Amino acid sequence: MAEDFDPIYQEYVLDLYRHPHNQGVISEPDFKGEEFNPSCGDKITLMLKINERVIVDAKHSGQGCAISQAGVSLLTDYLTGKSLVELQQFSAEAMIALLNIPISHTRYKCATLGWVALQKAL
Ligand code: FES
Repeated sequence: MAEDFDPIYQEYVLDLYRHPHNQGVISEPDFKGEEFNPSCGDKITLMLKINERVIVDAKHSGQGCAISQAGVSLLTDYLTGKSLVELQQFSAEAMIALLNIPISHTRYKCATLGWVALQKAL
């Protein structure tokens, strides 16, 4: 899982995995998207609450590996306060940059699971 990156970053990712940010459910979300990784069975549901075209709350539920869970934690931190216009420019590469660790080809799907859920939500 996390054997191919720096131990300092590994600890950072594992900490987010153990203590995820913004985990939970938004009742009556304005946007909701799910993404499933068929190779491992992991699934993320992303929910957004919008007020005047700005994200005022972002939450996630589901399960996944350390990288996918750390990624969606950082994603929900990033999303809160962003406008819907800003989100249109948020790419998969920007999602990986949030993690700030080297992502191998085999971990690309893990790192972008939350981002794909976001694309489905919008
Ligand atoms: Fe399932 Fe990473 S191993 S998303």
